[in-house]
Amino acid sequence: MRKTIILIVDDEQGVRDTIEIILRDDYETVSVGNGLEALEVVKSMPVDLVLMDINLPHMDGFETLRMIREVDGDMGVIVISATDSAQKAVHALRLGAYDYIAKPFETDDLLSTIKRYTDRLRLKREVQFLKEELQSQFGDVDIISKTPGMKRVFELVRKVSLTSSSVLITGESGTGKELIARAIQRLGDRKDKPFVAVNCASVPSELMESELFGYERGAFTGAHTTRIGKFEYADGGTVFFDEVATLPMHLQAKLLRVLQEKSFERVGGNKLINVDIRVVAATNVNLEEAVKKGRFREDLYYRLRVVPVELPPLRERKDDIPVLAEYFLERHCKKCKKNVRGITHPALAALTEYPWPGNVRELENLIERLVVLAKGGGEITYEDIPVEIVCSDGENLRSAYEIEDFRRACRVFERHFIIGILNKTNWNRAAAAGIMKIHRNTLLNKMKELGLDVLDGQHSAHDGGEDREHVPVKIGKR
Ligand SMILES: Nc1ncnc2c1ncn2[C@@H]1O[C@H](COP(=O)(O)OP(=O)(O)OP(=O)(O)O)[C@@H](O)[C@H]1O
Ligand SMILES: [Mg+2]
Repeated sequence: MRKTIILIVDDEQGVRDTIEIILRDDYETVSVGNGLEALEVVKSMPVDLVLMDINLPHMDGFETLRMIREVDGDMGVIVISATDSAQKAVHALRLGAYDYIAKPFETDDLLSTIKRYTDRLRLKREVQFLKEELQSQFGDVDIISKTPGMKRVFELVRKVSLTSSSVLITGESGTGKELIARAIQRLGDRKDKPFVAVNCASVPSELMESELFGYERGAFTGAHTTRIGKFEYADGGTVFFDEVATLPMHLQAKLLRVLQEKSFERVGGNKLINVDIRVVAATNVNLEEAVKKGRFREDLYYRLRVVPVELPPLRERKDDIPVLAEYFLERHCKKCKKNVRGITHPALAALTEYPWPGNVRELENLIERLVVLAKGGGEITYEDIPVEIVCSDGENLRSAYEIEDFRRACRVFERHFIIGILNKTNWNRAAAAGIMKIHRNTLLNKMKELGLDVLDGQHSAHDGGEDREHVPVKIGKR
């Protein structure tokens, strides 16, 4: 992977040199002394981030910022100013700057601001890449994942979409069953035909039959006209039976007949109506168990699960949590017309640790809430994450004292200890290893062993190099 390219814009050679020295181990740097030159560089090189002084000759930093944003509306700019003026900071942020640093600043402040930006940039690019990859395979599908388990599901979806076989989607609540059902429809030949969803749990049992099969005039009191049901309406398309386990027994028998004979009669009628439908069913309970207990027809179960698709819970695909969080962040920022700079590392770490009983839906709802509550131009931080999420990771610290298995207890303790120190250093591993008085590689190995490297892709920039001495250095002038 190429190094992040940072453009330094400052009229003072001394400041440019100092910043270059600080950044050179982990970033590629280019430096110029004025706004016009800065614009030229931005136009000709794949710059990732601009560090810019406000007081520049000819064209000031604000004007330069404005023009850079005209060339590249997404370009990250961190403004550095000799005066610690709240007004200037607000102005810079309004013009689209990522952040504002006042001189003199400490090396660590600069590095951690850059790191926060590059973390977000990496995540944004990853999400963009995943979206493009999935879109090229799936067309316009609003689904995202990078984990092997879900990629296998996508592959299965692509194959099954070309057939008319019945599909049974299983998975906990909120894992994306309906999304997958719609993707199956959208990818296949039936895409221009109706997709009719039937929620077996919410339609009252006595209405379900006429909902599905329709009825003839006079079939029952109140049936003043003939009505077609969902099966007829969906002809050529897909019927999605959500929460299929709750379908009443007598309707299970009728559904089985439709699946086998591809025909049925309306309620109160005796004319056979032929339909061509594909059935996709979903359930978050174990249907096999339901069959054993006599609550679900075995023959229907086998008819439905010609192609079984199992969606793993989110806690079993933790790598998806950061990308999904970023995906929902972008989506809800757009929806609320809000600019949130990102989710800080400690916050992402807390999200990744949480077991998400409500799966992707719960994550999406939380991100939406956090976006609504966030200050414009602000970040979602660890403090913003609700306490029940921060404190309720599957095995919390208290449980370490109750666990009797020595190795498991140590593991729980180690995880908490390491996450705590990493949070203190904004996930700078070199600094965290320093505090713990262990070698950086020992920490990296531990993190891997404890599964804490899930967020690795997002923090390899400035703490990925050799151990840096953390001596605060004051840079710049007042
Ligand atoms: N991989 C994903 N990428 C993007 N969004 C997702 C993904 N999986 C789920 N979602 C979102 O999460 C929410 C829940 O998904 P969906 O309704 O498909 O879940 P479900 O399994 O049908 O849940 P339930 O069992 O509660 O009905 C939706 O808003 C959906 O857009
Ligand atoms: Mg659903």
